[in-house]
Amino acid sequence: MYLYIKTLGLLAHSLHDSNLSSYKKLYSSICHKMSSLYLNMATNANMNGIGLSIAAVFTVYLVSRLLYRWRNPKCNGVLPPGSMGLPFIGETLQLIMPSASLDLPPFIKHRVKRYGSVFRTNVAGRPVIVTADREFNYYILKQDGKLVDTWSLDTFAEVFDQASQSSRKYTRNLTLNHFGVEALKEKLIPRMEDMVSKTLADWSSRDSVEVKSASITMSIDFAARQLFSGDLENAPLKLSDMFNDLVEGLMSFPLNIPGTAHHKCLKIHKEVRKTMGDVLRKRQMSSDKTPRDDLLDHLIQDMNKEAFLNEDFIVQLMFGLLFVTSDSISTTMALAFKLLAEHPSVLEELKSEHEAILKNREHLESPLTWEEYKAMTFTRQVINEVLRLGNIAPGLFRRALKDIPVNGYTIPAGWVIMIATSALHLNNDEFNNALEFNPGRWKDIQASVVAKSFMPFGVGMKQCAGAEYSRVLLATFLHVLVTKYNWAMVKGGKIVRAPIIRFPEGFHFKISEKTK
Ligand code: HEM
Repeated sequence: MYLYIKTLGLLAHSLHDSNLSSYKKLYSSICHKMSSLYLNMATNANMNGIGLSIAAVFTVYLVSRLLYRWRNPKCNGVLPPGSMGLPFIGETLQLIMPSASLDLPPFIKHRVKRYGSVFRTNVAGRPVIVTADREFNYYILKQDGKLVDTWSLDTFAEVFDQASQSSRKYTRNLTLNHFGVEALKEKLIPRMEDMVSKTLADWSSRDSVEVKSASITMSIDFAARQLFSGDLENAPLKLSDMFNDLVEGLMSFPLNIPGTAHHKCLKIHKEVRKTMGDVLRKRQMSSDKTPRDDLLDHLIQDMNKEAFLNEDFIVQLMFGLLFVTSDSISTTMALAFKLLAEHPSVLEELKSEHEAILKNREHLESPLTWEEYKAMTFTRQVINEVLRLGNIAPGLFRRALKDIPVNGYTIPAGWVIMIATSALHLNNDEFNNALEFNPGRWKDIQASVVAKSFMPFGVGMKQCAGAEYSRVLLATFLHVLVTKYNWAMVKGGKIVRAPIIRFPEGFHFKISEKTK
């Protein structure tokens, strides 16, 4: 999950990474040799020009050795082309340089043009292979646990503990149980429709709404109800407010000193964890044992069966699920608002689809059903197109467990591999005029293209366990929105990738109920 992102986090923590240890050893041995040399020279009363020249030559030799080792990492074969950037920081600054468009981050775009679809780089001291190669990406994603394993960037690792193999499987099954197709069919769709209707009625009563943060609030409140039945409804601090601040902090530079957004983010993380702990303990101690049928009840029942299911794990898991349900869905929703407002013909086709659904009903006010969702062909194409252009996760991260051959090169064991799914989503060969918002293109796209070139939710064993939930929530939201409301942007609208997509001025919309 979490998964999506956090390049900045690398910088703060990279110096503790084992990949760096050889450079650090070399660097400290150079410093050590140089200091003893200078010390000897300084204590030598006869220090003269010859001594200084020897020291200078020695310094140049040692620095060039350091640079050579930095630029030419060890490899049992030929490394993919690319540059390792500056010692210790690599090419981090180029990677996080903001670009103001939906296009591929220039970091990837320029390097693919220069070096080809697989290239090497270094981000904050970590050697990384970036791959935009369609076949290799697909192959690598099918090798989870064999040639590669999952790797998270450090800010996220700090916030989401790395799960063990059995706990990861448990999390996946639990998520599918409570947010998967069966749960959607049985209970979630009508609940979603009800929640969206109330939310939009509230938004339309305001002068304007910043849809990204308002969508975080909506997604968190809804998910919290499925996780622990809204046990926090009367809490002094609103969970959704905490998450709004947290998301901002995660996108900031990871400098952990008071006053910085990162510091605030870690503080909120602690608070949210404490709140989750309180929810768990309160439920465990409650004399009311009526089953709530929510995820927390499920976790508590399983506590006697699974050794890893302790309080810490449960708190972390609920936090992680709240996070993934908030940021990615809200970004997709906000982008859909903007793209639909800018493309009236797409909006018209979408409205027709949803009006037809209402017309085909026996009772107009009946709740939305799974069958109706399945009939939303164009809506699914709109959602695909927003996900394709949004590239919420610009890439998926893995770590090579062994040396991996690719196109005549070798990826050394231990290196990080960034599978640049965004490069495939914006490839003009697969998606003609790729930067255009054109949901209609999905009518003609072959299944083989979808399988290997479109993976907003990942592929294989680790494919997103919340994919269908996200699609249904987005579709339900669009259903209520286009059948009952009009909207127009009043402020903001700027998009920045750094390389994660952000809306620095927000997307402020006026939402009005349609006159009947
Ligand atoms: C637009 C919304 C979302 C997007 C774009 C998204 C994207 C992703 C991606 C790309 C992965 C795979 C990461 C990898 O292969 O390394 C993933 C995994 C995961 N996602 Fe999502 N996600 C979204 C929403 C959600 C939601 C709402 C939930 C929970 C209800 C969720 C739960 C998970 C879980 C549990 C995994 C880990 C699966 C595993 O390792 O077996 N996601 N997501």
